[in-house]
Amino acid sequence: MDPSQVKIPPLKDLTIDNITENVILINSLCEDQRMKYVLERLVTHLHDFARETRLSSKEWMTGLLFLTEVGQICSDVRQEFILLSDVLGLSLLVDSIDHPKPAGSTDGTVLGPFHTHEAEEMAPGAAMSHDPKGEPLLVVCTLKDTQGRPIPDCKIDIWETDSTGHYDVQYAERDGPDGRCIMRSDKDGVFWFKAIKPVPYPIPHDGPVGRLLKKLHRHPYRPSHMHFMFEKPGYDHLITALYLRNDPYETSDAVFGVKDTLVVDLGKVDAALAKKYDVQEGIHLMTYDFVLVTEEESSRLRDERSKEALDKLGRKVKIVNGLPIPDLD
Ligand SMILES: [Fe+2]
Repeated sequence: MDPSQVKIPPLKDLTIDNITENVILINSLCEDQRMKYVLERLVTHLHDFARETRLSSKEWMTGLLFLTEVGQICSDVRQEFILLSDVLGLSLLVDSIDHPKPAGSTDGTVLGPFHTHEAEEMAPGAAMSHDPKGEPLLVVCTLKDTQGRPIPDCKIDIWETDSTGHYDVQYAERDGPDGRCIMRSDKDGVFWFKAIKPVPYPIPHDGPVGRLLKKLHRHPYRPSHMHFMFEKPGYDHLITALYLRNDPYETSDAVFGVKDTLVVDLGKVDAALAKKYDVQEGIHLMTYDFVLVTEEESSRLRDERSKEALDKLGRKVKIVNGLPIPDLD
């Protein structure tokens, strides 16, 4: 870029007090308005953070080396940055902001670092886990919209650990995906499959995020859960999970994912269900009625809540294409 074409004041003699406005000024050449806005706020908060904490060079270098290690341990089957975002509570916060849920719809929760794109689509009733040591579990669910109408043909990605609390990708010598499947809801919005009873497990804590937790005197455990992800054009993408009640980590999830509405009580398969689904009587039963919101409902609610959040900060705005515009009416 030719500096003579840039219509900004010369950037010299910058101080603790004027560095922020000047960095924002040079970044304001960005043509993507949303990116420009996010960068402006990011620089403002980062600089305020350094000014407020009186951050030392040594501390900031410790932070940079930590982030370097987080990046270095990442691979195609390990995502330490998602883990870092999770243990800082940022993943849950962003999901709650970006996927607001009206009353009566299913809450979202953290994706976690173990979703993959290699799950196979399976027929209704298939067994998604092949761990012989897992306690057999029948899962029978329905999927509806907020008006109570069944949602057919939705792609549902489901994943869980084996009975030792490890996901398939955590085994170096594995044959292929296990503990994962893709289901489709039928014409009545029903989907069902065979799985194993989820167990609690520690998030990977042999890397920089684990060392951070140790330093903070935090345990790395997640309560027993099974992940679900719903995708259908016209509906807001739902990433969620079901948690087992009375798990020892129900109220201290290392990644803050548990919500009351997502905690379930397991039942037992009775004789009639055993016959209907061709499974053994007495095995564990998990049932849940999921409710998806449409993209339109979600988008409207997202803008309403953006406006409310900025109102609370004393900024009178309306939201247009994700950007706060001064409300002059
Ligand atoms: Fe998980």
